[in-house]
Amino acid sequence: MNEITITVNGKQVKGKAGSTVLEICQANGIDIPTLCHLYGLSDVGACRMCVVEIERERRPVPSCTYPAREGLVVQTHTEKLEKYRRQILELIFTEHNHFCMFCEKSGDCELQKLGYQYQMDNVRYPYTFPSLSVDSLNQYITIDHNRCILCGRCIRACREIAAVNTLDFGQRGWKTTVVADLNQPLDESSCLNCGPCVQACPTGTIFNKINLYKGITDDCEQIETVCPDCGVGCELNVLVRDNNLVRIDAPDLTSPRGALCRMGRFELLEQTQSRITSPLVRSKDCEFEECSLDSAAQRISAGLKEAKASFAGMASTKLPSETLSLFHKFISGVIGSDSIDTPDGASYRIISEGIAKFTGNGKLDIECSIEEIPGADCIMVIGADPQKTNPVVGTLIRRAAGQGKAKLVVVHPSRDAFPLWTDLWLKPKAGSEAALLTGLAKVILDKGLAKSGKADAIKTSLNRCEVGEVTRTTGIDKETLEEAAEIYARAERGIIIYGENLVVSGGADAVATILNLASITANQVGNSLRVVSLKSGANSRGAWELGLAKGIKQDKPKGLYLLLSDDTVDEKLLNWLREIDFLVVQASYQSPVTAIADVVLPSPIWAEREGKYVDMGGRTLEIKQVLEPGEGVLQDKEILMAVSQTMGKELVLR
Ligand code: SF4
Ligand code: SF4
Ligand code: SF4
Ligand code: FES
Repeated sequence: MNEITITVNGKQVKGKAGSTVLEICQANGIDIPTLCHLYGLSDVGACRMCVVEIERERRPVPSCTYPAREGLVVQTHTEKLEKYRRQILELIFTEHNHFCMFCEKSGDCELQKLGYQYQMDNVRYPYTFPSLSVDSLNQYITIDHNRCILCGRCIRACREIAAVNTLDFGQRGWKTTVVADLNQPLDESSCLNCGPCVQACPTGTIFNKINLYKGITDDCEQIETVCPDCGVGCELNVLVRDNNLVRIDAPDLTSPRGALCRMGRFELLEQTQSRITSPLVRSKDCEFEECSLDSAAQRISAGLKEAKASFAGMASTKLPSETLSLFHKFISGVIGSDSIDTPDGASYRIISEGIAKFTGNGKLDIECSIEEIPGADCIMVIGADPQKTNPVVGTLIRRAAGQGKAKLVVVHPSRDAFPLWTDLWLKPKAGSEAALLTGLAKVILDKGLAKSGKADAIKTSLNRCEVGEVTRTTGIDKETLEEAAEIYARAERGIIIYGENLVVSGGADAVATILNLASITANQVGNSLRVVSLKSGANSRGAWELGLAKGIKQDKPKGLYLLLSDDTVDEKLLNWLREIDFLVVQASYQSPVTAIADVVLPSPIWAEREGKYVDMGGRTLEIKQVLEPGEGVLQDKEILMAVSQTMGKELVLR
């Protein structure tokens, strides 16, 4: 039976079989107070606020853990239950310090709301609260143990959403507190600063340190958009008040991308660098001078003439497709160059070449979506550090491996990548990952572990591969190589996740070998192979599809227009940019890149722009503008169009 009927407060209501009484009541609009329950987390029945009376039960029971069954008769708001609830609240209020006027969560606190609802004008018990510590060393999160009601939501969020297991209860009885690892400061614990615990805490115990006291939920506008920090494409619920960022939550903690990470939840709120609010040109004595957009465009025009044909463009992949498309037109139509790239363009070209070796075309949709990770029974991570580059992919890997559903094979120079979850760790010699992959394919074929007829296609190419040679090249012994091959080949939903390190060291051949491995072991879902390549830029794939990652033709162009916006560049790219004679940088913040530019133009930050992203799985996502740009900051497209006009060319926006 998929549907059951129960009677609540004399009325018949329907709900899904397998639901709790609380779930059926909530689905039917019957409001039962809760504190330790949070949608998406398991229920533990800790606070007892949700008690209900059920016919034939001797005493009230917590509805959040009580399984509903056909014909149940439930009372949710009798005088007796309301008395219980008020008594529970009184005990909670006396146990710890709940002087709301000093609390960051005041106005947003679930306990405070219940206090008002139950008219808590006094408590009948002595205040017992001890003076507890406040852990505020962490850069983003504070834990004020004095506010804790021991509901355990943070612990379950850390375990079930973040899949980290940093938090737990420590001590016993009235001394019980939430502790990180073995009662270490959060900053010295295994915490990854991802923040589901912050979002889950109903009181002001665990709170976000950035933008403190900037506003409560009811005072804020809430705008759903997409994280600009990596290719995963996590949805963000951004809370804004008076054109200031207040907080970022996950709209749905239970979605595959709902955990968010340090970058999406906290770092986006930090705006401590100096903004660029006016065009700047370098004067004869090498100092920057503020100028009009027109003067800056004339300087660009002059620089372009000097650089003649040797002028190139480069754009950040944090920018939406509309801006990237216009920039493409600007470089080709206005500057007159076909030399254009993105900072991660080289990786894309290699991945595409590797895919083309396998499929004959370079189309990226041969790879599966990250949604397949939680259901995998084996995950092999090679040449990648997802916890750093695409942290929510790291979360999905930990969820699958931590619940024992997937075997985790990690090929990485350090075991620290997934310390608690790794089943088999391989540390090949630097740069030998491609040889390792070939060795895995060879072992799979030799041991008859291939499951698909496609194995015949690669047999010949592996004839000359000798396992002994592979072990010498990689430094991985034969037994370990065989163990890794067996784990992967015997999996039915095995996924290989690779990243930029593999692409750089192994090139297109390594990419093709990964696809071959997935193909011969039939690790496939629909028409896609169970393979995921990690992309750092939020719109890297969009940029690739728009043709922005063609590559810069010259080793060192004489002039370059860098549309950087609020992105950063690594040391290697910065050193390359230093060699360029005439550099135009359109950026949001002052940085080492703007310091070496000849012309600097202002650009909005992530929150001030709108448009579309294509995430690394190929989904097109709408990004919304959440802030009005600051004074002097124009949209990137307006700057590009104005510069074009001064240069006597028209840039048409479609
Ligand atoms: S920030 Fe993340 S890892 Fe750290 S305690 Fe909270 S949920 Fe756990
Ligand atoms: S820190 Fe917050 S979520 Fe965790 S047990 Fe205390 S009140 Fe509950
Ligand atoms: S995983 Fe990527 S997209 Fe998701 S919140 Fe983190 S940086 Fe943003
Ligand atoms: S919400 Fe049910 S016991 Fe806390």
